[in-house]
Amino acid sequence: MSKYLVTSGLPYANGKLHIGHLAGAYLPADVYVRFLRLNNEDVIYMCGTDEHGAPISIRAEAEGKTPQEIVDYYHKSIVKSFDGVNIKFDNFSGTARPEHHKLSQQFFLNLLKNSYINTHNTKQMYCENDKRFLPDRYVEGECPFCHTSGARGDQCDACGKLLDANQLVNPVCKICGNTPVIKETKHWFLDLPAFAEQLKTWLNDKPNWKDNVKKFILSWIEEGLIERSITRDINWGVALPEYQGSDAVDLEDIKGKVLYVWFDAPIGYISSTVEWAKKIGQPDKWKDYWFDPDCRIVHFIGKDNIPFHAIIWPSLLMGQDEKYTLPWDIPANEYLTLEGQKISTSKDWAIWVEDFLKYFDGELLRFVLCANAPESKDADFSWKDFQALVNNSLANVLGNLANRVYAFTKKNFNSKLELHKSISGKNKKFLDEINAICKDIHQSYSEFKIRKVVKTIIDLAREGNRFFDEAKPWQLIKEDKPASEEVLFVCAELLKKISICFYPILPESMLKLRKMSNLDLNFKWDDICVCNKSFEIGEIEPLFKKIEDNQIQEQIDLLYSKTKLKDETDNIIKDAPVKDVIEFDDFVKIDLRVVKILTAEKIKKSKKLLKLQVQSGSEKRQVLAGIAESWEAEDLIGKSVVMLFNLKPRKMMGELSEGMILAAEDKDGRAIPLTTLQQVNSGAVIS
Ligand code: 2FM
Ligand code: ZN
Repeated sequence: MSKYLVTSGLPYANGKLHIGHLAGAYLPADVYVRFLRLNNEDVIYMCGTDEHGAPISIRAEAEGKTPQEIVDYYHKSIVKSFDGVNIKFDNFSGTARPEHHKLSQQFFLNLLKNSYINTHNTKQMYCENDKRFLPDRYVEGECPFCHTSGARGDQCDACGKLLDANQLVNPVCKICGNTPVIKETKHWFLDLPAFAEQLKTWLNDKPNWKDNVKKFILSWIEEGLIERSITRDINWGVALPEYQGSDAVDLEDIKGKVLYVWFDAPIGYISSTVEWAKKIGQPDKWKDYWFDPDCRIVHFIGKDNIPFHAIIWPSLLMGQDEKYTLPWDIPANEYLTLEGQKISTSKDWAIWVEDFLKYFDGELLRFVLCANAPESKDADFSWKDFQALVNNSLANVLGNLANRVYAFTKKNFNSKLELHKSISGKNKKFLDEINAICKDIHQSYSEFKIRKVVKTIIDLAREGNRFFDEAKPWQLIKEDKPASEEVLFVCAELLKKISICFYPILPESMLKLRKMSNLDLNFKWDDICVCNKSFEIGEIEPLFKKIEDNQIQEQIDLLYSKTKLKDETDNIIKDAPVKDVIEFDDFVKIDLRVVKILTAEKIKKSKKLLKLQVQSGSEKRQVLAGIAESWEAEDLIGKSVVMLFNLKPRKMMGELSEGMILAAEDKDGRAIPLTTLQQVNSGAVIS
């Protein structure tokens, strides 16, 4: 048995939870924790809201409330959303609590004592209109690295680089929109270079970390670590503790400073554990995790949090007097997009968890976000995919298997399947195969590959249906009833195994499945291979309901009607010159059609071209599209796009192109095909 402490990045208490949050840091952690528990591991799952920093105070100012009011409101809202999707923490704390403040100040004082903190007079952005310094998100501008606009004073969302507000090109004050000036103020800096060697040694010991995380950190270290400022001139946060004995610092300098939110936030993992230990009446118990070098500390986060967790946070721990256990793994996820576009809270291009739960069961969200988890690259949530996944994989495959096996048993075997001990032949072979696959599933869970888990389980259920079809128990029963019963027994065993290995992802549905066949609700992973009981089928209910087209259309309409995306001004592209007016007769010469992309592959010698085979009605054609720099070939397959159908065929790079796919270019020059018309049959003419 190993000991685990699992955490998810603390969500800022400045807004509601959306599905992107769940997919990034919470659902994978909850699934992992449930998996570990099934395996009898000693595991606690800690989290809480991140209640400091510019995001909170900006929101408070915008709404004319106190930061604490904002924090209290959103803490409740966030907890409710987590409950609705069955994400269960052992403790969910908040960083504005006094214990957390105390611990963070201790962390600071220890680092200071151990000479890991220096002070410098620095030049900061200052708004003369608002008469205040503008740290972090109080200022926005163009990223000096990737030149995307809207980069914040602490980090650029587009390229992930950490920034200093002074580096922003064309900075503006978030409060009033004026251009800030530069003013001098003293700040405290964490001496990251002092930890470089220790960090490298620690990282070298982590060969199995996800590639995206390793790459990110190594490039950071290669670029050279620099001192990072850990204090801010705002009035909301953990106050910089007054301390004595320092040479150049007088108390006046300390006043009005707080610790940078990224200094205190990860300490929230510890203070939440301390709070938990008190709650369970064993106040020292938190040390069993944080001071045990063998405890596996796993931080689930979104990719923008990588530098903070893999560089700054371990440094904070290394600089303490006590020997804190360093992170064991940091499985960071990429982003989830929504209907092909970046999720944006400010533009309300998001599906809020609380809204989703008004219409659908939280289990379905767990399922779709696991099936399509942004594990190694960004993934997209679309309402149509959601419907297709639920209806096909859950209802038609797994739900159908359960229903036909149980209904047949009820009808023909008086609801009972006796224990079949000496199973042989095809049935035995199938059971052995299932057991082997369950081992793979175990491995995938341990490696945080949840997408693969879902796919494997659904494939297993599909195999179950095939096994049932091929064995034809409805015919067999006429000649050899025990043989027919054995087939059903094997299928019921399969369902039992699925109820265990799918439990971390679909806890409620799998309990329901077990109840239908009167299986013990206390079970462990090892029960997968135990085959020593007969089955008695109880009340049969459909495991999953299908989602109707109109339910999905309602959501799509809702999403588009509430978003401010369409009237956003910062995405308007400079007007292209209008071409010469054409006659209607010219227009009708253009033959535009909806075609479905059947296959897509890169053309070897070309950076830009993809070779597509498309279907239009009954006709198939080959077309080359210059979109290889914007699209992965595999992501295009199945998409219905608009094609100029009567363009004279021509050869490019030795390949024939029989038309042209229409694509729009966004402002970064990324081609985006365009009008996807999933609802329309291929071959449809556009006029
Ligand atoms: O990015 C965020 O939402 C931060 N609030 C995450 C904090 S993670 C941890 F360090 F607390
Ligand atoms: Zn201002």
